Formats: sequence, structure tokens, C-alpha cells
Amino acid sequence: MNKKSKDHTHQEFIEFQGDDLFDVKNFFWEFLQDGIRQKHYIFLNPLTTAPVSQVDAYDRYTDGIKRYLNFSSYNYLGYSVYPEVIREVQDTLAKYGTGAASAPLFSGYYDVTKRLEERIAAFKNKEAALVFPTGYSANVGVLSCILKPGDVAVLDILAHASLYDGARLAGADIKVFSHNSPGHLERVLRSLKTKRALVCVEGVYSMDGDLAKLPEIIAVCKKYGAKILIDEAHSTLIFGEHGRGVAEHFGVENDIDISIGTFSKSFGAIGGFAVADQKLISYMRFSARSYIFSCAMAPHTAAGILKILDIYTKDKSQRDKLLDNARYMRKALTKAGFDIGDTQSQVVPVFVGKEMRLREIGRRIYEKGLYAGIVTYPAVSAKRTRLRLSVSAYHTKEQMDACVNILKEAFADVPGGE
Ligand SMILES: Cc1ncc(COP(=O)(O)O)c(C=O)c1O
Repeated sequence: MNKKSKDHTHQEFIEFQGDDLFDVKNFFWEFLQDGIRQKHYIFLNPLTTAPVSQVDAYDRYTDGIKRYLNFSSYNYLGYSVYPEVIREVQDTLAKYGTGAASAPLFSGYYDVTKRLEERIAAFKNKEAALVFPTGYSANVGVLSCILKPGDVAVLDILAHASLYDGARLAGADIKVFSHNSPGHLERVLRSLKTKRALVCVEGVYSMDGDLAKLPEIIAVCKKYGAKILIDEAHSTLIFGEHGRGVAEHFGVENDIDISIGTFSKSFGAIGGFAVADQKLISYMRFSARSYIFSCAMAPHTAAGILKILDIYTKDKSQRDKLLDNARYMRKALTKAGFDIGDTQSQVVPVFVGKEMRLREIGRRIYEKGLYAGIVTYPAVSAKRTRLRLSVSAYHTKEQMDACVNILKEAFADVPGGE
């Protein structure tokens, strides 16, 4: 076969169907080997240090460890390496051991997990919270138990894969509306034959960094009696005076039916949560399949997150620093002539165009020592590939300037923007 990677996109493999179920592996293997030869394979380089502004990672092309400027990790506020957090995790680890060792409804529910749920509910000003092993499983679990076949998940077209997957698991119909368009949402809701619809949006969009137009979207939901879920994965601890997210930022928290969050971004840990009224959470606890049929969050993880909430409640200077840094980075990139779309947050896309250009630019930035998200289908449309920069509180201005300079050189080396 001798496939040339430049003749294929990642999307082809995801959609490929041969006569034999496993045919795809041969096709993909050649694509991968050629990609490695072209130095386009810059994924899965194991990190050997903590995810802060610089990381050391294995480089397969030199077979050594290389230092990178890191704009790829979600540790937005730097909490994953706070000494107090690490100490709390270590103490809890010594007490309970390494894992929860069971699903929550058997014996995987610990005093510390219960405290975390109570604390998250209080933090979000809602009646109750449910903690999941990941943010992905929170969305899959919630949508799949709330929606039934014949119900409709109405998703912003750019909604996270986990929202789509939850709706699919529910067997619900999926309708999408144009990104952040209350007008199109209204047309979709008007066309539905059922009132059993759940509109799902993100607070900060994970690949674009823009904010949901919540006040307008909520007004449309109310008009048509649709329920609304917001995924605040990238906005928790960052937006809103108290850090409760974009719903707090817009002053519309009481209009949200279900709010989702994750501990993998600003908390720098792992896990997810849903908050809602007591009865809804209680129903989810006994019916969300990703909660019931999966091992619970490890107690030491819950303890670390509780410590982060203590720190955050007393001192939001890291958050303020992050917002300053994000502003600085957006301005610097815009000044340098990059297309960064409508981002208003620390999630900063730098649009590239077609996948082949992304691969060439990706190779160059890695060679120049910059670690950034290389994003193509299925995370985004194959025509809208991008580098995704995760700005954090721990980046210095010098590091942000260095990042912009590397991008300038790499983009200049590979012209063609569409
Ligand atoms: C908007 C959104 N929701 C959910 C998730 C899943 O969260 P987790 O990585 O904690 O599973 C992500 C992760 O990238 C996300 O961006």
C-alpha cells in the first residue's frame, strides 16, 4: 500500500470501513509510520516533569529529553503543584490508600467525597452536587439519564464530544444550532414537536475560548419551555466574581437547570461534577450509568480539591493573574496578525486552516521548543484546524512573548492560511 500521510486526513480513519472489521489498522499503521518519518507525529511524547510553564518531555526524533515552553496544559491556576495541596493529597493517600476501590453505590463513597459534594454545592449556590470520576463521564452520565428516546438534545454545534455522546447513549434525537446563535436556537426549538428538550451550551467554549451568549440563550429556552444545561469546564474558578463560572458572570445562575464542571482544568486534578436541585441530583445518583458503573473518584483526589477550594476562597490572586495573562496573550497575538477568532478567555485558538498546514506548523513549533495543542478533526472541523494555547497564571510575559515569536517564525515558514 505504502500510504503517504500527506494524502490522508485523520477524519478518513475515523470514518473508514473495510470489509474486515480490523482493516482500518493496516491503513492507519502506514499513515502513522509515514507521519513519523515526516516528523508530523508530535503527539504522546511522555512528559517527565509537572505541567507548568515549562515541561520536559521525551522527543522521539532525538531519542532524548527536551525542554519545552508549555502552552498545552489545563493547569490554569497552577494548583496541581501547590505544596499545601500536595501535602493534603499525601496525607489522605496515607490514610485511605491509592483508590476508591469500588463504585460509589457499593463502597466507593468516602467521607471526603461527601464533603467535596457538599462543598461544591455550597460553592455553586445550588442544593446538591454529584461528583463523577471525570468531566467526560459527568456529561455522559447526566444527559443519558435525563433524556429518553424521543427527547431532544439541542446542542450548540461546538458543544463538547461528551455532550454529544451522552445524548447518543440516551437514544435521544440530536439537533444542533449554529454556534452561539440565539436566533438559530429559536428556530430549532420552534420546529420541535416536543417540549422535552435539553439545550446544552458551554460557558467558555473549549476549542474557541468564546463565552456563551447566556442571557439571550436563556430567554429563548424560557420562551419554548426548554431546560438548559451549561458545561462550565473551562470557566469554573475563572469567570464570575466568586469563580462560579460564566452563569455567575452574566448574573443568570438561577435560570440554569443543570451546571456541569470538571476538576481537570482550573483545579489541575481529575474528576467532574453536576450541580442541580436536590431531587434531580438524587435521581442522577441512582441512574447515571457512568456514575453507577464506574469506580468512584479516589479519596486523595477529593481531599486535594477541597484544599484548593480553601485556598481559592481566601485568595483569588492567581485567577486575577490568569485573566491578566490571557488578555496580554490575546493582544500580543492579535498585534502579530494571527487569527484568534472571538476568544475572550485563557483558551486561545490560533487558526491555521487545512490539516497539512497544521502538521507542518506543528512540526516546526515542536522543533523550536513550544508545546501547544495541535487540534484537528474530530475535536474541530477539518477546515478549521488550529493550535490551541492554554494560558495560565504561571506564565511570565517573557514566556508569552517567546511563544508569539515561535508562532510567527513557524507561520512564516508555512504560508497559506485557508
Ligand atoms: C467543555 C468540556 N467538557 C467536558 C470535558 C471533559 O472533561 P474531563 O477532561 O475532565 O473528562 C472537557 C475536556 O476537555 C471539556 O472541554
